[in-house]
Amino acid sequence: MKKRDRLVRYSAPERINHWIVAFCFVLAALSGLGFFFPSFNWLMHVLGTPQLARILHPFVGTVMFAAFIIMFLRYWKHNLINREDLVWAKNIHKIVQNEEVGDTGKYNFGQKCVFWAAIISLVLLLVSGIVIWRPYFAGAFTIPLIRIALVVHSVSAVALIVVIMVHIYAALWVKGTITAMVEGWVPAAWAKKHHPRWYREQRQRQTQQEKRP
Ligand code: HEM
Repeated sequence: MKKRDRLVRYSAPERINHWIVAFCFVLAALSGLGFFFPSFNWLMHVLGTPQLARILHPFVGTVMFAAFIIMFLRYWKHNLINREDLVWAKNIHKIVQNEEVGDTGKYNFGQKCVFWAAIISLVLLLVSGIVIWRPYFAGAFTIPLIRIALVVHSVSAVALIVVIMVHIYAALWVKGTITAMVEGWVPAAWAKKHHPRWYREQRQRQTQQEKRP
């Protein structure tokens, strides 16, 4: 593939950041499911032993949150909802048939929904997680508040797991997307089809760079 047929989408630090979040998510989600359902207790072994899982799970979750905040600060502007997103949402029946609609920028409406759902559920998970975190913080809260926090923690964890399943499915389903987060580039044809506004912006930047002496 020629150099001009590829567009850079993520730098190496951005990809490392994303995979730290993804790795922590897998560990926290599996160990969390292990705590929650007796039939999934064996999943606690992803963090060594059940005792270790109990100690490490909150730390893994905190690292995931901190790493996601860096992603949040990097991408929030690209995830603001605009008029083109409404066109995309109204034509979702075409999108699922692999047609494209609207002048989509760096991210489409579906990706933006994943982004905002992820930050909301991560904030809820962190806040409720601190309230139920024994032996460090839980002692400072009342039993009814700890019970409410347990419900919030479980509901937001299930929501995040569902959202990330959709995210992974979309990343694998839309051909050409996965190289973005693995190698950092996307085929220009992919960008032109799925993110036409972002494609034009990148081409403009490339042309300006080529003109520079
Ligand atoms: C575990 C497997 C995962 C895979 C295979 C995966 C795959 C990808 C891919 C391919 C992209 C690039 C999409 C594009 O640029 O169009 C991406 C972007 C992104 N991913 Fe993941 N991801 C995973 C987990 C996660 C998790 C756990 C989170 C957050 C909790 C996450 C949050 C994001 C965000 C915020 C973006 C940027 C898109 C945006 O801001 O809307 N990912 N991911």
